[in-house]
Amino acid sequence: MVTRLQFIDKNQFDIKELKEAADIIKDGGLVAFPTETVYGLGADGLKEEAAKKIYAAKGRPSDNPLILHIADVSALEELSTKVPKSAYDLAEKFWPGPLTMILNKSGKVPYGTTGGLETVAVRMPNDEVALALIKMSGAYIAAPSANTSGRPSPTTAKHVMDDLSGKIDMVLDGGQVGIGIESTIVDLTGEYPTILRPGYITKSMLEEVVGEVRLDAAILKENKDKNLKPKAPGMKYKHYAPKGDLTIFEGNMEHIIAKINELAAENIANGQKVGIIATTETSDQYKHGIVKTVGTRADELTVAHGLYAVLREFDDLGVNLIYAESFEEYELGQAIMNRLLKAAGYDVVHIN
Ligand code: TXA
Ligand code: MG
Repeated sequence: MVTRLQFIDKNQFDIKELKEAADIIKDGGLVAFPTETVYGLGADGLKEEAAKKIYAAKGRPSDNPLILHIADVSALEELSTKVPKSAYDLAEKFWPGPLTMILNKSGKVPYGTTGGLETVAVRMPNDEVALALIKMSGAYIAAPSANTSGRPSPTTAKHVMDDLSGKIDMVLDGGQVGIGIESTIVDLTGEYPTILRPGYITKSMLEEVVGEVRLDAAILKENKDKNLKPKAPGMKYKHYAPKGDLTIFEGNMEHIIAKINELAAENIANGQKVGIIATTETSDQYKHGIVKTVGTRADELTVAHGLYAVLREFDDLGVNLIYAESFEEYELGQAIMNRLLKAAGYDVVHIN
């Protein structure tokens, strides 16, 4: 299969430019498209056969369910048997936007899309191209991140092509995404709204709308040895993983820099290729290895935005050891650390 790459100007496009992509979705094919979080790999989510193709193209385990992308809140009635008031309140405040809600599924949603679960994940993306594609195809578009399973999520169309060229029908190139890490997932089927995956919409932002919100205990660093089963099946896989072996350093920043400099020098002398994930505030203090500035601590959105691209650059450079600074697990930092920790397989060194 030859994958067609089509450019589309997010700020100024004619709906006709999306006709071919919409037709592919209608015919049960696969189209990767931009969203505000990461690129998604889309197919008609109510057609089991179409959804199956997503799993094949990504090499994704079949028990890992897909998110259905909608363009109108009224879709909730069709996709879920029991839509709680909290869902409408959150939709009102955060949609279109980087928030995915877990609801009880209706009979229309095939188990092939939900990984056999009785619940369904739904999100309205905040991207004009994505919304127009959903409307024009007349489908609810099932879309995981458009990467090969286990690789960092794609934040540019090039990342998608690197992973999936030849395996999918089309890629819509709408430029770089705005946020850079996947949506916050909140489960609304239990007693309390529960965050299954942290993202740009933080716990405190959700609490302003729906009151007390909990965090799935299985995704917390302090519980990593307890073998708890994450409620979002995707969170159990070693995900977002670069090819190099990633270690995170936390503690006193001055000492972290000294330690990373020492380890980098030592390992380079041993023939290793070392990459360092630094921030604007620290990058000129690293003396060895390939130093990449992921963003600035003064605005953590820049860090979220740059993280996956840096991990991919290290892959391309054949880096086999990666050292990263850590971030406060607070607000957006919680989402950043969640992805970094998973990429590192929870390998964290504390430096006093
Ligand atoms: O920002 C995003 O959410 C991006 C863009 C493309 O929308 N999509 C994305 O999809 O990150 P994916 O498939 O890479 O991650 C979806 C996560 C997985 O961890 C999956 O296990 C979880 O959502 N999930 C989906 N349906 C679920 C359900 N019914 N219950 C619990 N977790 C669910
Ligand atoms: Mg993913």
